[in-house]
Amino acid sequence: MNNFHSDTLVFFGATGDLAYKKIFPALQAMVIGGTLNVPVIGVAKAGWTLDQLKARAKDSVEKHGGLDPVAFEKLSGLLRYVDGDYNDTATFQALRRELGQSQRPACYLAIPPAAFGIVVEHLSGLGCTRQARIIIEKPFGRDLASAKALNAILLKTFNENAIFRIDHYLGKAPVHNMLFCRFANAMLEPFWNRYHIESVQITMAEDFGVQGRGAFYEQVGTIRDVIQNHLFQVLANLAMEPPIRTDSESIRDEKVKVLKAIPPLEAKHVVRGQFKGYRQEPGVAPDSEVETFAALKLAIDSWRWRGVPFYIRAGKNLPVSCTELEIRLRHPPTMYNAYKLKSNYFRFRISPNVVAAFGLNIVTPEDESVSEVTELKVNPSTSPKEMGAYERVLTDAMTGDATLFAREDYVEEAWRIVDPLLKSGTPVYEYEPKTWGPNETNSVKPPGGWHNPVLNGYPTI
Ligand code: BG6
Repeated sequence: MNNFHSDTLVFFGATGDLAYKKIFPALQAMVIGGTLNVPVIGVAKAGWTLDQLKARAKDSVEKHGGLDPVAFEKLSGLLRYVDGDYNDTATFQALRRELGQSQRPACYLAIPPAAFGIVVEHLSGLGCTRQARIIIEKPFGRDLASAKALNAILLKTFNENAIFRIDHYLGKAPVHNMLFCRFANAMLEPFWNRYHIESVQITMAEDFGVQGRGAFYEQVGTIRDVIQNHLFQVLANLAMEPPIRTDSESIRDEKVKVLKAIPPLEAKHVVRGQFKGYRQEPGVAPDSEVETFAALKLAIDSWRWRGVPFYIRAGKNLPVSCTELEIRLRHPPTMYNAYKLKSNYFRFRISPNVVAAFGLNIVTPEDESVSEVTELKVNPSTSPKEMGAYERVLTDAMTGDATLFAREDYVEEAWRIVDPLLKSGTPVYEYEPKTWGPNETNSVKPPGGWHNPVLNGYPTI
């Protein structure tokens, strides 16, 4: 790890939606946490002044997390602004002037991928990229070929260890906690394999639609938006072998190995859905075939996992907002078959709160001839001091810690898995809003059925 601190943060897309919703609140949190003390140069083409950018930043923090007057004052003092077109050399000359003596800027591209190439080319002409870092927002390409092309552009100017491909899911404390939970406890390891685990399912449910992002969503769909990146990262945390050390490359090596063991998705193992009403959203084509829901089955052909089916399901407009994993165990060779026992399971919830729970069969107190699943549950409280996902990834990128970022080989492996499916044009089935997707989802149902997360009470199997 090159662990020097970047001496400036330059962020392209300063007047955009992501900056408004996530980046300004993260910057204020970094000031509070003492990790941001360097100039922050916003770049955009909006015809704005620095004062307008500051007003936008203030509005952003007020709406997303709350204004801390002292910290915001400091952030405001660090802010600079360059207005101009990314195609125009003059924009980068103005940026060069704002950079002053900076030799180690971190350049964050919170802009559409189509503009990455031209911005990187201009940056390389500025003469300050030797110790610069580049932070790239997802989506990283839209298929294997475009991801490779993008990697080639970046690698012409930057070394891989200076490239930080954001997957903000990795910045979420609970996702990080998954690794800790797996490798800091001896009790999981004995059953964490094909001999004891019958199936694994990962559900990322959101109870809202596309929230005005129809035009963006039309370009991606659920598989590109959250499965190829966020949920594959969760899958890798769940399935990876223990890394030899905790440095970024030891951890990222193990994640890549998981993806390498996954054969490309087959169309017959994927169901795509679209919620009723999606085609009437602004920016959405009236005959759109883009999925807002997907359920799929995949295999990990490794010593640990061969023969264990993994199921992933994600969608908009589902009954709840919750991301949860269920690791279902094989039935015991029991003499209690008359009880119609459910599978034991380990459940790990990532959002909206962390839960780690074992589901056990227990006879009911009322009737000893009846068994029910009862959970042994850990439900840690949250702390206001917990770092937000963007705060964590930006802090790490500025200090050169790449652990929570997707490496080139990882990104390409992830695209390799979904690429044939994206090109196969499978049908899209309509589903009613606030339901668990189309009925066709049952064709990729895990043994024992899907586990639908519920926010209160016990999960149902
Ligand atoms: C984003 C997707 O990357 O992640 C969104 O583009 C999705 O569609 C979001 O809603 C989920 O992340 P979070 O942090 O809001 O749960």
